[in-house]
Amino acid sequence: MILPLVVDTYKSMPELIPVLSKKEIERSINDLASRISDDYQGRDLVLIGILKGAFIFMADLLRQLSVAAKVDLLRFSSYGAGTSSSGRIRLTKNLETDINGSDVLIVEDIVDTGLTLAYLIDYVKTFHPGSVKVCSLINKHENRKQEVTIDYYCHDIEEGFLVGYGLDYDEHYRNLPDIYHLKI
Ligand code: XMP
Ligand code: MG
Repeated sequence: MILPLVVDTYKSMPELIPVLSKKEIERSINDLASRISDDYQGRDLVLIGILKGAFIFMADLLRQLSVAAKVDLLRFSSYGAGTSSSGRIRLTKNLETDINGSDVLIVEDIVDTGLTLAYLIDYVKTFHPGSVKVCSLINKHENRKQEVTIDYYCHDIEEGFLVGYGLDYDEHYRNLPDIYHLKI
């Protein structure tokens, strides 16, 4: 078992403060998946995951859905190696699925300033989907600069830079099963 060793190593570093446990994340994803499954019955659902942070969340969400869903991925670069938004957004991986007329659900790891989400909603709309909604694991409030509607989210967090469960700091900590506040 390598994982507990990795977690113990990170835990022994004083800057990681537990915020959400694996169990809490699992429970909230199950609740969200049943809401989404109810809302999208009989629809042509396409989940669009935003790389890299959302890949673990999307994999777990997808497996809890009781409706059929196609999957695609988009990647934008917005953050560099630090913890504050650069405000610059650049597309680095495009869609490979025809979403014309489909019901798109954008799957994000965390919405912070809202700038990335606002940009990518507009971008996805250029492919003429039937509908576009947003689902985020975390809705973080402290830095919001742009009003955005997050149709589905698992957890409200007021502040702090979070890592674990797909969320990274300079590519570290994505593998942690729980979510932590990183004190820098
Ligand atoms: P904005 O500010 O445009 O940013 O809403 C959204 C993207 O920024 C990243 N982000 C974080 N990543 N811990 C992370 O690992 C955080 O606390 C955090 N806050 C923002 C993330 O990639 C998100 O998609
Ligand atoms: Mg990131």
